Amino acid sequence: MKGIIFTEFLELVEDKFGLEMVDTIIQESNLTSQGVYTAVGTYDFAEMLSLLKNLSKHSNLSIDDLLLVYAEHFFHVLASNYPSLIAQYEDPFTLLSSIENHIHVEVRKIYPDAELPTFHVLEKSNDSLVMLYKSSRALHSFGLGLMNKTFEHFNTKASILVEKIKQDGTEVKFIITKINEQ
Ligand code: HEM
Repeated sequence: MKGIIFTEFLELVEDKFGLEMVDTIIQESNLTSQGVYTAVGTYDFAEMLSLLKNLSKHSNLSIDDLLLVYAEHFFHVLASNYPSLIAQYEDPFTLLSSIENHIHVEVRKIYPDAELPTFHVLEKSNDSLVMLYKSSRALHSFGLGLMNKTFEHFNTKASILVEKIKQDGTEVKFIITKINEQ
C-alpha cells in the first residue's frame, strides 16, 4: 500500500483524535515500519489493518466507519494532488465508470506498485450505475466514501446501495442512482 495512504491517515487521526492517539495506535500495532512513512514509499497493507483495528478499539467506531470518514478526507487529497485527472470529467457517473479504464490506469503509471481494486461496470445509464468492486483488501467502505465525495464535488446527490456479494467484503456491488432535486 502506498505511503500517501498512511501519511494522510495519521494526519487525520492527529486532527480528529490528537497526537497521543497517533502514538498509542502506532505502539500497539507492532509495525515493521515503526510508523515512519513517506508519501512515495510502499508498505505492507497489514500495517494499515493493525492501525485501523487499534483506532477502532480506542474510538469505538467500526473499521468500516473509519474507512468511510477517511475516504471522504482522502478525496480532497486526490483532488488537490491530481486536479487534471478529475477535471476531465463533467459528471460523477462518467468519472466513476472510468476508474477502471482511465483513472486507476493513470495511477498505475505514477505508482507501478499500487495495489488497486477492480471496478467493473455492470450497468450504466445517464442517472444510474451498477459497479462490481473486487479487491483482496476489502476496502469497499473506502470506495463508498470516495463515491460520496465524487457526487458532492459535482453538486449532485445520489443514493448508493452497497450489496455484499462475498461476506468478507472482497466482492461488493454498488448500485448508484441519481436523486433528482426539484
Ligand atoms: C483522481 C482520482 C483517483 C486517484 C488519483 C486514485 C488513486 C489511488 C491510489 C494511489 C490508491 C492506493 C493504492 C495503493 O495504496 O497501493 C487507490 C486505491 C483505491 N481507490 Fe483510487 N484513486 C482515484 C479515484 C478513485 C475513486 C473515484 C474511487 C471510487 C470508488 C476509488 C477507489 C479506490 C479504492 C476502493 C482503493 C483501495 C484499494 C483497494 O480497494 O484494493 N479511487 N486509489
